[in-house]
Amino acid sequence: MKNMFMITIVTMIMRKMNNYLSSINKTSDSLIIKEILNQANELKTPIISQEGINLLIQLIKISKTKKVLEIGTAIGYSAIMMALNTYCFVTTIEKDEENYKIAKENINKAKLESKIELIFGDALAVDLADNYDLIFIDAAKAQYFKFLERFKKNLNPQGLVVCDNLLFHGLVEKPETLESKRIKSLVKKISDFNSNLLNHPEFETYIYEIGDGLSISIKK
Ligand SMILES: C[S@@+](CC[C@H](N)C(=O)[O-])C[C@H]1O[C@@H](n2cnc3c(N)ncnc32)[C@H](O)[C@@H]1O
Repeated sequence: MKNMFMITIVTMIMRKMNNYLSSINKTSDSLIIKEILNQANELKTPIISQEGINLLIQLIKISKTKKVLEIGTAIGYSAIMMALNTYCFVTTIEKDEENYKIAKENINKAKLESKIELIFGDALAVDLADNYDLIFIDAAKAQYFKFLERFKKNLNPQGLVVCDNLLFHGLVEKPETLESKRIKSLVKKISDFNSNLLNHPEFETYIYEIGDGLSISIKK
């Protein structure tokens, strides 16, 4: 009971801090971005959090990244944000036909056809010859390790890998509270991925409590 009370207080303070930060951090989304955010909301399409995309954009700028590979386009929000706010070229892969079509329309509306290459297909069946400075993994959570192993050869030396949703709404911390077998198995896969990534001999990784849990790995 006492613990529960403490957790509630800490959560309330954290929420207040987050409200504070979102009230002082500058956001100046263009009309097209506002439209895509509304669209994601209406279609219930999961997209990266605002703090997650802001970090990713700063990371691209700091590391002077020129080429990004994104696994999991959805309706194009993160790819468009990266292309709009940095000088990088984004290659992004989406396997869901409906999402692919919407993303294509959104990229056209944003007039970013020359900065974003959208590939329709299952990333686990796509072969890429190009090399990238940053790989952003944001697709099927159970497949993260396969994506990493498949595309690490396409990453430049000192390149970065960023993965989203590694805390999976905080569920990775308390898998014993889960009843659904399906969610439990997914949470176990994410948790295994986190340990594999943190112990990967080819990468130096930290996982941050940003958005839904974001990792940044540097290729050694
Ligand atoms: C969380 S959403 C991506 C959100 C997007 N990155 C953003 O922040 O705007 C995940 C997307 O990955 C796609 N996806 C899942 N598995 C995939 C795979 N094996 N290859 C390509 N896309 C995949 C899903 O169809 C879905 O649209």
